[in-house]
Amino acid sequence: MKILVINGPNINMLGIREPAIYGSGTYMGLCDMIEEYARKLGVEVELYQSNYEGDLVTKIQQAYGVFDGIVINPAAYTHTSVAILDALKAVQIPAVEVHISDVSQREDFRQISYVRQYCMRHIIGHGFKGYLEAINILLGKAANIQ
Ligand code: DQA
Repeated sequence: MKILVINGPNINMLGIREPAIYGSGTYMGLCDMIEEYARKLGVEVELYQSNYEGDLVTKIQQAYGVFDGIVINPAAYTHTSVAILDALKAVQIPAVEVHISDVSQREDFRQISYVRQYCMRHIIGHGFKGYLEAINILLGKAANIQ
């Protein structure tokens, strides 16, 4: 099982950006947590982050025939990007949408998610743990992590 974990713009700023919303953990810390969990489960994982919409689209396209599952936090592009939705539809790789914060309790403009139309599940507001729960879902396991 090979899983691609994709993060969109400003996720590299975790730890610095709005800690009251996203917590104090860094992107490096998030990567370490995901890699450690994947190792424990015997799952191969690749982590990718970009601030550019086109790069995210290209990475999804390149996942075709290579990865069995995608965990994606498109960050701000969640609320704007038809291109990322179309890329996911093109490659037809099972995908789970993750948001660190509970976007359902935030501004109106965060209530739209284009990728949600494609993703099998979405996990919002569970912090970094949400990424691990998304991996569980792709593995067909119960999502919850204590
Ligand atoms: C986010 C929520 C988005 O609305 C925001 O633009 C982000 C992060 C989250 O993980 O909570 O950059 O995707």
